[in-house]
Amino acid sequence: MSIVVTGATGQLGRLTVEALLRRGVPAAEVVATGRDTAGIKDLADRGVVTRRADFADPESLAAAFAGAEKILLVSASFPVDERLAHHRRAIDAALGAGVSQIAYTSMTQADTAGTTLAESHRATEGYLRERGAPTVVLRNSWYLENYTSQLPLALQHGAFVGAAGDGRVSAATRAEYAEAAAVVLTAEGHTGATYELGGDQAFTLAELAATASTAAGRPITYTDLSADALVRLLADAGVPAELASVLADADLGLRRGELFTDSGDLRRLIGRPTTTLADAITAALH
Ligand SMILES: NC(=O)c1ccc[n+]([C@@H]2O[C@H](COP(=O)([O-])OP(=O)(O)OC[C@H]3O[C@@H](n4cnc5c(N)ncnc54)[C@H](OP(=O)(O)O)[C@@H]3O)[C@@H](O)[C@H]2O)c1
Repeated sequence: MSIVVTGATGQLGRLTVEALLRRGVPAAEVVATGRDTAGIKDLADRGVVTRRADFADPESLAAAFAGAEKILLVSASFPVDERLAHHRRAIDAALGAGVSQIAYTSMTQADTAGTTLAESHRATEGYLRERGAPTVVLRNSWYLENYTSQLPLALQHGAFVGAAGDGRVSAATRAEYAEAAAVVLTAEGHTGATYELGGDQAFTLAELAATASTAAGRPITYTDLSADALVRLLADAGVPAELASVLADADLGLRRGELFTDSGDLRRLIGRPTTTLADAITAALH
């Protein structure tokens, strides 16, 4: 009987493994997977089972998921147009292993949102339904780290840039989403649920800039661009073309309110208020 985490070589998956251990799951019952397990050797040294699982390789998935009771399917990254095929293989393998629950990390308002990213999440949620999989959908909003990681550039240029207009984003930390995932994987009664997960305090990118400005003690503004101009700016800064257009498209979704939730689901699952923007920025600056 074990809990398998995909994407454990990445940030959210690793944090979920840590959260499972903190919640008292024995290390030997946690299976951390990724395409190259060399990066999670430290987890193996702590007794966590590590296995190779590549969404492009069904045999690796069958071997990695064998004996699993529950699985956290962390959505794949790029290329976006391969995501659905990757997720379908992972879902098939999980069902083949006889799991009693698949927790899937989806995206805010995935059933209706108009972004490219939401499209593959919507299709994956649809496939889970089509297969009759025992599912918990974790519709994560943006990570606060998406913004705190931009602080050095924002300090350098005195500005955040985006194409999100006055849209509000319900960002929370990766660790909070990971903890919520660990809760649904270790407690009863979540199968069948769809959670809209986000931070308690939604903010616009102008509010992000104002909060960063106050914390840093120097002027930082928000410059709102068209999606095309944002793609060009990101490309000029060396961001790969697909990522640049996905980011600009996501900002248009943010502008339409598609990364906003006031469900309170994240706070309820983790049992405390989520990290405020001001605290996240202060922690990142120090
Ligand atoms: N909510 C947000 O703000 C936000 C932002 C960015 C991304 N996301 C989504 O959330 C996911 C987790 O975020 P993160 O920050 O933890 O991303 P991350 O650090 O890039 O980790 C992604 C994980 O997915 C694994 N992966 C990717 N393609 C795979 C494949 N073909 N087969 C098996 N594993 C594969 C990676 O494995 P390798 O180590 O082998 O590459 C890695 O472990 C992302 O993958 C993306 O879908 C959400």
